[in-house]
Amino acid sequence: MKVIATYNIKGGVGKTATAVNLAWLAAREGAPTLIWDLDPQGAASYYFRIKPSIKGGSRKMLQGKRDLDKYIRGTDYEWLDLLPADFSYRNMDIFFDHTKKPAEQLKKLLRPFRNEYYYVFLDCPPSISLTSENVFAAADAMLIPTIPTTLSLRTYQQVLRFFKQHQLDTVKLLPFFSMVDRRKQLHRDIVDQTDDLLKDFLTAQIPYNSEVERMGIHRAPVGDFAPASIAARSYAALWNDTKEKLINYLP
Ligand SMILES: Nc1ncnc2c1ncn2[C@@H]1O[C@H](COP(=O)(O)OP(=O)(O)OP(=O)(O)O)[C@@H](O)[C@H]1O
Ligand SMILES: [Mg+2]
Repeated sequence: MKVIATYNIKGGVGKTATAVNLAWLAAREGAPTLIWDLDPQGAASYYFRIKPSIKGGSRKMLQGKRDLDKYIRGTDYEWLDLLPADFSYRNMDIFFDHTKKPAEQLKKLLRPFRNEYYYVFLDCPPSISLTSENVFAAADAMLIPTIPTTLSLRTYQQVLRFFKQHQLDTVKLLPFFSMVDRRKQLHRDIVDQTDDLLKDFLTAQIPYNSEVERMGIHRAPVGDFAPASIAARSYAALWNDTKEKLINYLP
């Protein structure tokens, strides 16, 4: 089982679009895949046409007092399951804080699935919190969508610094450029620069493409309704880069 998080402190950078499209691609290859919608906004659940709700609220489940299994739902796609969001996830930090190892709760909750799923995707809310620390501990790889702007690069540096300060393994950080608009001079300048900071960026980039926005209308991954689009092909390239890292660099 490999746990892949889509994470950024920043909101609206393409985390959910990435998790949804990559999880779909993984499942399409026949790998049993779970996507856990950790965001109380419930966007990933919405894209897969699943009600963002955990019956009775999420506290007991997140504190390990209920089997996660019974909340998992099948999607319309073979090999792809989803653990829905719930509005009570907004209190996740508080729920975790009341457990023995507050930063390792997510890792512990996922352990029983190690023989059941080949990939687990964690679609994270935008923040840096105890929940994020749980994600850092549980994930084998952390995909960080980064819009090519100066502020977004600073945010990536903040994540990098946090990892170093907390003796976390920075090798699991997989930043990549997201929503790239090559009509914009700033985007071109940032994407094309050879700064040291960019050496860790994946080769694949996700362009700004209206097909991604249309996922909300189709309520489906882009590869399902627009397989020949530049967006679908870019997500396929991103998935290949991610797998390559998982095989060659990440334990
Ligand atoms: N490559 C893209 N091209 C065009 N629009 C995009 C692209 N990626 C995402 N979007 C759109 O931008 C918005 C934000 O994307 P998304 O929900 O994936 O970001 P997010 O980082 O998960 O946001 P949040 O922090 O709110 O969870 C959505 O409306 C989505 O359709
Ligand atoms: Mg999101």
